Amino acid sequence: MPATNTTNNEALLPPWTYHSSEFLQLEKETLFKASWLFVGHVCEVPHAGDYITFDAFDERIMIVRNETGDLNAFHNLCRHRGGRILDQRTGRCDGAMTCPFHGWRYSFDGKLQGVPAARTFPGLQKDTVSLAGIALEVWLGFIFIKITSGADATGNIGNNTDDQASVAALLAPIKDEVLPYNTAALEPYGDRYDELVPYNWKVIHDIDNEGYHVPIGHPSLQQLYGHDYRDYEEDGFSKAAGTVSTKAAKLWSVRHYQNMLPAFDHLPESAQRKWLYIQWQPNAVVTFYPEMVEVYMTLPVDTGHTRFISQCYALPDARREVAAARYLNYRINRITGVEDEQFVKDLSDGLKSSAWQPPMLSELEAGVLRFHQYIRSRIPVAALQTAPPAGETANVNRTL
Ligand code: FES
Ligand SMILES: [Fe+2]
Repeated sequence: MPATNTTNNEALLPPWTYHSSEFLQLEKETLFKASWLFVGHVCEVPHAGDYITFDAFDERIMIVRNETGDLNAFHNLCRHRGGRILDQRTGRCDGAMTCPFHGWRYSFDGKLQGVPAARTFPGLQKDTVSLAGIALEVWLGFIFIKITSGADATGNIGNNTDDQASVAALLAPIKDEVLPYNTAALEPYGDRYDELVPYNWKVIHDIDNEGYHVPIGHPSLQQLYGHDYRDYEEDGFSKAAGTVSTKAAKLWSVRHYQNMLPAFDHLPESAQRKWLYIQWQPNAVVTFYPEMVEVYMTLPVDTGHTRFISQCYALPDARREVAAARYLNYRINRITGVEDEQFVKDLSDGLKSSAWQPPMLSELEAGVLRFHQYIRSRIPVAALQTAPPAGETANVNRTL
């Protein structure tokens, strides 16, 4: 890839795309609501009536398992007057989903079953009323939804350009690599984090899309991987991988992780000591460690605020050294997270500076360029170096 400043500068997103509410609205509609989004794992909804809710971009979604074992996704919006039917992040309904406002009751397939004082709705035909459904697909245990379906759907996972493709089709290029991790059998491990952070969502990915900063910015990771770490693109997916070094690290948690990490019968030799990161565009990264799996994602709230959500999952394994490795992994990643947040803050502040200049990217930062190109390919107005006049961003975008 050419690394001249000129080439990179022209392809990168200009600062206004980080500050413009109108641009964020386009991102929400084009990148987020129209793409398959990771929302959880089947282990969080094992039984009939178990549910997950997912609130983002002014939408309220709920994912519910029915009596025959299927998962369905609906808008969490009562057909009576728009009440919120399910109110926890996860939970279980007993027999039906009941709106807490006036008690309308729905089956786990979204059909209206019961209406208090039904005779006071003379024209209402219950069997014609259902909750509004949403596309849902489960892939190797991971649950994805797509809020906007049909002709308006323009987003994808990875760089695939088939807007109507299934999750299975879109993730097919990584299936063989993921299969050994037995992800359908994962269970939640540790706490789920859902934090509001004061940054634009893209800056978070600008940091995590390149490993050029690892040797300097993350001394603990550098000790963990040694020189065996790289970012790369494969079959349209941005990936990164490092192998846990056998050279004893100075840092206590890294050194003990290196020593404690046991062998895992279900993993091939190549994965026994590998940390593998795969980006699920637009907003999620799944990390396959030998001892567990982590997914984190960003959900933009406004131009300067983002929900940062992360959850680890792990296969049942009672070995003490596995528990130790998982704990040490958490300690190492906590250090990394603090370091990354500082870089995100610094870049965010830098984007507002009067002295801001377009970045000069190394070839080692090609992932940043790919991320920006992905956004530009979906939202052409992002190619403009200055923002369109107020109120015109969507219109200008439509003409490009
Ligand atoms: S809004 Fe749900 S029952 Fe009235
Ligand atoms: Fe980092």
